[in-house]
Amino acid sequence: MLYGFVSNMNLAIIGTGYVGLTTGTCFAEVGHRVVCVDNNEEKVAALCRGKMPIYEPDLEDMIVSNVSAGRLEFTTDLGRAIRECEIVFIAVPTPPHEDGSVDLSYIEAVTREIAAVLSPELGYRVVVDKSTVPVSTGSKVYQVIERYSRKGVQIDVVSNPEFLREGSAVHDLLNPDRIVIGADSQRAMDLMKRVYQPFNAPIVEVDLASAELIKHAANSFLALKISYINAVSAVCEKAGADVELVAMGIGMDKRISRHFLNAGLGYGGSCFPKDVKGFINVAEHLGAPMEILKEVERVNAAQLERFIGRIRRKMWVLRNKRIAVWGIAFKQNTDDVRESVAVKLIRSLCAEGAIVTAYDPKASATGAAVLADCNVTICDDMYECTKDAEVLIVATEWKQFAMANLVKVRENMRLPILFDGRNIIHGENAVHAGFEYHSIGRKTLYPEKS
Ligand code: UDX
Ligand code: UDX
Repeated sequence: MLYGFVSNMNLAIIGTGYVGLTTGTCFAEVGHRVVCVDNNEEKVAALCRGKMPIYEPDLEDMIVSNVSAGRLEFTTDLGRAIRECEIVFIAVPTPPHEDGSVDLSYIEAVTREIAAVLSPELGYRVVVDKSTVPVSTGSKVYQVIERYSRKGVQIDVVSNPEFLREGSAVHDLLNPDRIVIGADSQRAMDLMKRVYQPFNAPIVEVDLASAELIKHAANSFLALKISYINAVSAVCEKAGADVELVAMGIGMDKRISRHFLNAGLGYGGSCFPKDVKGFINVAEHLGAPMEILKEVERVNAAQLERFIGRIRRKMWVLRNKRIAVWGIAFKQNTDDVRESVAVKLIRSLCAEGAIVTAYDPKASATGAAVLADCNVTICDDMYECTKDAEVLIVATEWKQFAMANLVKVRENMRLPILFDGRNIIHGENAVHAGFEYHSIGRKTLYPEKS
């Protein structure tokens, strides 16, 4: 791949989670020198040995090649990173509190650590907020640095939200639709533009507060789009229409677009649920409530409930029914199970006394950890998972589920009942294999009686 002019800047990334690690690696890939910092010693030690803490396509090879090229390193030494790097990105977690407000304690703690290292002799530093935060966090970060650092330090605070999707994070980072930079200082803006010069992407230059809002508003809008099509899927089920055809028909209108119109079990993951909640909370506090987003959340929760209701109606009693679930991760191509709808589904089935087996191509270890208190058997093989099952549920949109040998699956199962919660199985193939095929927002298909 060819990148634009490489300016070889020194960049520090604090927090090597899904966002920090992929962002830092991609910065190194385009030619910058990157120091990734994390306060988790085990994680840093493992990364230094070349061991990946997460599964993300293409990431491992890229880390290995950039470490050996001397452009990427991992450390727990935040002080050294700040002394060596002119730009410091913060990518630590911003989880939700019980009431939906955003927990900014990690950001605040890291900001104080940065402040303690800064000094007038060190020269100018730009502190960049990569984590998703409520509007006006940037100005608070600035105040904290002023309060806790020595007199005379020169800094600016910038907001530079990420738009990477897990599972395609490397691709998204290297081929962004746009880069959003929010800065209230031209000096900081110019430096940030140099960071992104190699990416050949349009840069949206805005003020700090607008950049922070862009992130919350973008993720909430995407969640709204998903809830919209899920609400339409419920209407389709009642009307005997096909939500896939409806999505195609409306999605071809460029003003709407087909992206993020896949009806399913609802959105999950570490971002949408938290960001919708966060935006609702921020807007309420500002006195401009976003009631529409409460409905987005309601539809999202109802989608899974409705699906489980359909399985219950079909099977009558779930207690002691053998149910196989394909998918534990919150989406395909990741091992991340945070806020996974598949996990919620498994929990709910177990709570009703079903005998649940589950399989995921990458999330068996992460899944086993979050489901440790649940009576679910996690299998190593997708076919073994269906052995003697009375129902098979597809809960995550992995490609290998769409490509499954359904005849083999059917032979494994006790009853031929398939609930596709992601509309990825070819319905007619399922029927040919002998399945009764239930999906989202479409008519149920039945095998012909022989
Ligand atoms: C984070 C934010 O939570 C989210 O708001 C934002 O949208 C993207 O960045 P993610 O990268 O998925 O999300 O978080 P996670 O995978 O939990 O990683 C955070 C890392 O920060 C961990 O490795 C953790 O050890 C590290 N960390 C946390 C620090 O280095 N210092 C701290 O004080 C806290
Ligand atoms: C999201 C944003 O897309 C990304 O820009 C970023 O800022 C972080 O949050 P991510 O959560 O990694 O990325 O995955 P995404 O592909 O957006 O999927 C989120 C959830 O929505 C998944 O549970 C997925 O299954 C669901 N989804 C997505 C649908 O149900 N239908 C769709 O059409 C798309």
